[in-house]
Amino acid sequence: MGSELWSPLPGMSDIVWPEVSLWQKVEDVTRWIMSLYGFREIRTPILERTTVFIRAIGEGTDVVQKEMFTFEDRGGRAVALRPEGTAGVMRALCAMGQDLAGSRVYYMGPMFRAERPQAGRRRQFHQIGAESLGPASPHADAECMALMSHLLAACGVRRVKIRIHTRGAMADAPQVREALVSNLRSVAPTLCLDCQRRLESHPLRILDCKQPGCRRVVESLPPLTDWMSSASREYFEATCNLLETLGVPFEVDRHLVRGLDYYEHTIWEAVHPALGAQDAVAGGGRYRIQFGDRTIEGVGFAVGVERLLLAMQGEGISADERGGAPKVWLVAVGPDALQANLVAVQRWRQAGVPCGMDVTGRSVKGQMRLADRSGARWVLVRGEEELQAGTFRCKDMTSGQDRTMAVEEIERKLLSSGTLE
Ligand code: HAM
Repeated sequence: MGSELWSPLPGMSDIVWPEVSLWQKVEDVTRWIMSLYGFREIRTPILERTTVFIRAIGEGTDVVQKEMFTFEDRGGRAVALRPEGTAGVMRALCAMGQDLAGSRVYYMGPMFRAERPQAGRRRQFHQIGAESLGPASPHADAECMALMSHLLAACGVRRVKIRIHTRGAMADAPQVREALVSNLRSVAPTLCLDCQRRLESHPLRILDCKQPGCRRVVESLPPLTDWMSSASREYFEATCNLLETLGVPFEVDRHLVRGLDYYEHTIWEAVHPALGAQDAVAGGGRYRIQFGDRTIEGVGFAVGVERLLLAMQGEGISADERGGAPKVWLVAVGPDALQANLVAVQRWRQAGVPCGMDVTGRSVKGQMRLADRSGARWVLVRGEEELQAGTFRCKDMTSGQDRTMAVEEIERKLLSSGTLE
């Protein structure tokens, strides 16, 4: 019973030491990079009214149809754990009531999708997302992709490939859909059963089906851009040109569609070779979302943090096993020394020196073992005799050298230079 009670739910994980040091690194890098681009942090609730996601993401999408954790709260409201960040952030910005154009926000936090857990696909996962609001502009789209590329590089991920494509303006969507369906209808029997169903509900999704039969059909189709307006084609071309000018490497992938309904114009995904079948480390695009009487336009992306960490590990970046080690560890021989040590660590910590000691009543041998494990550079030991003399026995854990030092000297050195050398 114990072990079942202790394990997290399927598809969910505890994030523990030392791996958490990589999470902290990624979060620190994110704060720094976002500030360079003028994005401010926004934190929205994890639980929202289900309609927020239906409105923004689209009624017929897989995320809304199959992947949301939904339930009724005690007040009888239909609520859902957020499956992604954009919808809730748009709701929050609308609630702030300001002119949204020019708003730039980023967020980090857990998202939930009731998918079948597998490598790279979790039920609770984390995203780092950014949203830049304003009317459609290739400059905004290129800047947003440059930001994502900068963020991934700053985390140490270099072997990433950005695939981009266009959905065309939302106004083009009916004609694109119609042309696609009429091209596919005659070959419908050769499509897989899922795609035969998608033909009427979500024909675009057929483009990213992995079944060989569907792939063959898709390869023989003309590019979707053929059915878009010339303005949409020019928009895409301008975005690609700007990316080249900015030196952001990308490839055009005419089968990329993305599974959320709010997109128009530029869409993209960043993939990494260390990730296997679920190889998208990030995805984004330009969107247009109708919330009540407001239409919100913007461009953004989200990085999957679990996948980012796998990519980082694939590039040789590992968790910091020694990070956060105290500078000094105090060992007490006897109860008087124990109390005096507690007073000392409190004073030194308040002065900004990371230090540690055992507070669980271990023997001297046990305390020494703990001191060794802590990774502290210096271990300071005192008993009755040292207390009387106002000294510590100081062991340098790097050189193994032992010496006796006065408490005042230790304090002076630690508080001024942070070292006992
Ligand atoms: P998305 O492509 O659904 O886009 O998710 C973004 C990233 O989240 C994916 O590339 C992947 O790394 C990660 N991810 C998604 N589902 C899972 C899962 N079940 N387990 C682990 N990682 C996962 C969005 O969510 C959009 N809101 C992005 C966006 C922001 N577009 C515009 N603004």
